[in-house]
Amino acid sequence: MSVLRSAELVGRDAEWQSGLAALAHLAQGQGGLLVLAGEAGIGKSRLAADLAERAAERGVAVLRGRAVPGGGAQAYRPLAGAASQALRHQAARPGRPS
Ligand SMILES: Nc1ncnc2c1ncn2[C@@H]1O[C@H](COP(=O)(O)OP(=O)(O)OP(=O)(O)O)[C@@H](O)[C@H]1O
Ligand SMILES: [Mg+2]
Repeated sequence: MSVLRSAELVGRDAEWQSGLAALAHLAQGQGGLLVLAGEAGIGKSRLAADLAERAAERGVAVLRGRAVPGGGAQAYRPLAGAASQALRHQAARPGRPS
């Protein structure tokens, strides 16, 4: 599937800086939670994707989990998705420290 995506992230300087700060904390061993909230189409997924790209460039393992509309009882689906991705990644690279 091809996705139209502008080459440059436009604006979002404050949010981008918050993401970079979270990455810097991560590099110091400090975890955290960054919540992107806003109305439909405002750019949450785009910002998350660009931050994930930056994180991956810095050698951070990026795991993705997706919620589905009307997911009902599957409250842990996003976490389960990310965890299984981590396990697959580890299984594909045996012997490497995770
Ligand atoms: N700051 C930005 N610079 C350039 N393009 C952007 C920016 N923010 C969003 N876009 C583009 O606008 C479109 C909608 O953005 P996006 O899908 O990230 O919105 P969303 O908030 O995740 O929407 P939804 O709530 O429906 O999931 C995408 O094509 C995305 O690439
Ligand atoms: Mg989105």
